[in-house]
Amino acid sequence: MQKILVTRKMPPAVEDRLAASYDATFNPSDEIMTTEQLLDRADGMDGLLICPSEPLSPETIAKLPNSVKIVATFSVGHEHVALDAARDKGLVVTNTPDVLNDATADITMLCLLGAARRAYEGEAMVRKDQWKGFRTTMLLGTHVSGKPLGIVGMGRIGQAVARRARGFDMKIHYFNRTRLTPDREAGATYHDDAQSLFSVSEFLSINCPSTDETRRLLNAESIAWLPDGAIVVNTARGDIVDDEALIAALKSGKIAAAGLDVYDGEPALNPAYRGLENTFLMPHLGSATVETRNAMGFCACDNLDAFFTGKPCPTPLT
Ligand code: 8YV
Repeated sequence: MQKILVTRKMPPAVEDRLAASYDATFNPSDEIMTTEQLLDRADGMDGLLICPSEPLSPETIAKLPNSVKIVATFSVGHEHVALDAARDKGLVVTNTPDVLNDATADITMLCLLGAARRAYEGEAMVRKDQWKGFRTTMLLGTHVSGKPLGIVGMGRIGQAVARRARGFDMKIHYFNRTRLTPDREAGATYHDDAQSLFSVSEFLSINCPSTDETRRLLNAESIAWLPDGAIVVNTARGDIVDDEALIAALKSGKIAAAGLDVYDGEPALNPAYRGLENTFLMPHLGSATVETRNAMGFCACDNLDAFFTGKPCPTPLT
């Protein structure tokens, strides 16, 4: 039986499957391990099942024991793994795409509606017993029907967001490295640069991966391109947003509200977000359904199983 180090506590169904197929070392306390602990525990392992909480820099990859032949990350995002260094070392790296498209798109709509309809303020009013009854002007939000939604990154998650937003009668615009085929575009308007997309986006949803090109894509300059009173949603990666610029725009009203599921440096988000009433804040729940987390774990298992039986991995990154 191959030895697998599982760095974080997994859903029970995933741990059961791993235990049946591998000599698996689990992390029942779910404490995040330091790089030193990871390297120490990786000694003698054939494979690792990691999460984004365990960054594998080029230096860490160089120090991984040679027994480790495969790293399966329990995530679609892979900015925490230095893929070039992994390739150089002959290490196979896999991720878990597709299975989380729907759950992440659902959280995007939750954040969009939560921001547009002032869900945080409404919730707080009810819970703090501050609701004094009907007023025609109480907590008026922003209508979504008929409004343009600009999607940055029209990959599989972006397309799932577009499908849902069409159900709310929103008009879909998008910016992507490449234009989609007409069947995938499904009537959405393509913009070949960010400024063109931002300038029409009364609602803006960030659904692209974190890369050198997208880091701090939402910054003071690009916020100025947005229509006044725009609503911004980020369910992709925190570092795509310049927090200081977004916070300033939320304070000035340039941006009416933001729905955020991800944060730069999370869970240590910029504390100013907490003090703003026009934010709807979730703790990175994009893929957090039982079905999706099981599917992510099973996708990681499928990759490990394929690798150790000499078959091509279903979702390789290297
Ligand atoms: C996960 C994610 O919650 O898959 C990703 O890239 O951001 C999230 O869906 C997280 O990565 C769990 O490991």
